[in-house]
Amino acid sequence: MSIKKEQVKSALMHVLHPTYNKDLISLDLVQDLIVQEKYVSFTLELPEENKALAAELKKKCSEAIHKFVDKDAVLDITIGINISKKRELEGDAKPADAAPKQQEQQPILPGVKNIIAVASGKGGVGKSTVAANLAVSLAKAGYSVGLLDTDIYGPSVPTMFGVTERPNITTDKKLVPVFKHGVHLVSMGFLVDTDQAMIWRGPMVTSAVKQFMQEVKWGELDYLVLDLPPGTGDIQLTIVQTVPLTGAVIVSTPQTVALDDARKGVAMFSKVDVPVLGIIENMSYFTPPDMPEKKYYIFGKHGARKLAQKLDVPFLGEIALQENIRDTSDKGTPVVEAEPDSAAAASFNQIGERVRQALITRQKESGESDKIEINIRP
Ligand SMILES: Nc1ncnc2c1ncn2[C@@H]1O[C@H](COP(=O)(O)OP(=O)(O)OP(=O)(O)O)[C@@H](O)[C@H]1O
Ligand SMILES: [Mg+2]
Repeated sequence: MSIKKEQVKSALMHVLHPTYNKDLISLDLVQDLIVQEKYVSFTLELPEENKALAAELKKKCSEAIHKFVDKDAVLDITIGINISKKRELEGDAKPADAAPKQQEQQPILPGVKNIIAVASGKGGVGKSTVAANLAVSLAKAGYSVGLLDTDIYGPSVPTMFGVTERPNITTDKKLVPVFKHGVHLVSMGFLVDTDQAMIWRGPMVTSAVKQFMQEVKWGELDYLVLDLPPGTGDIQLTIVQTVPLTGAVIVSTPQTVALDDARKGVAMFSKVDVPVLGIIENMSYFTPPDMPEKKYYIFGKHGARKLAQKLDVPFLGEIALQENIRDTSDKGTPVVEAEPDSAAAASFNQIGERVRQALITRQKESGESDKIEINIRP
């Protein structure tokens, strides 16, 4: 039986930190927990350097997992030191740079039922293509959908949706999303000169994203899809901490370099307690139009599928490398809308449905069933 994260967390609740007389989970000292079948890895983030205590706690963690979870569990426990944690635990004022956890309770977007981030570790794997087609697919299924393109350095939404107009501003200075192909769109590219944005530093980008979330008149949405910039650096981390995400999907191509980065993406979301709804494999294979029975696995075979299994997250489906996906995007209408009967559209629609199901499952598990009462437009 594969080990579950929750089992590991429960086991670690039996391990007390002697200084604070509380368990490691309540003290939030267990970070980057990854569980793959019998493999468990995490960082034990201690408030100060103390080799003897670190060794003792590490031993107690191993004993607890072997006793309460699985005697054959393979453990990889790293010790990390985070001095700002000490101030936090000792009740001092929180350091200004302390990373805030997900703002679950803060209703910054009260009318939005679900916010889904589309992320990847590596650039150019098809995040924006997936985000655009996922949004259009959900809209075509009858839901009210928004798409926020947070990639200030390389916004894709204006091109992929063929938007040339500027969004309207209401009298109370709120931005009205542009409505195109059934989706309410906001892109950094609508407002910011991309050439200028190239010199923006991280904090400017993240404060612009915060503003976008709060100062856009999104209205009532069933789903808001967030297209993230590539990578798992500070900018991405701040965005996923700022926005109250319901879940995230990770896009990867099948080759090893992309998979390594996808793994980092999964770790980033688990760090901020955002559920990973699953992994999507893009550019899985190529079928020449004149040889429909052939599949060429240009970037390797089933890499993302295997990674999903390893990381114990759902695999949401594969999308082949197809000319019409690129071509329709370049011309301003995502393939789901431009060629609804194509194989490409079918794969995006299937993935859209799986994302929806994954959200419903998650929300049922966490008892938030009211969030899934979504009204389908007539
Ligand atoms: N399955 C596919 N078949 C053919 N072309 C694709 C496919 N997926 C994406 N592309 C094309 O690959 C290019 C990169 O895709 P996209 O912009 O979606 O990637 P990205 O991960 O968002 O990139 P970035 O990291 O720069 O934000 C685009 O030209 C897109 O049209
Ligand atoms: Mg992109």
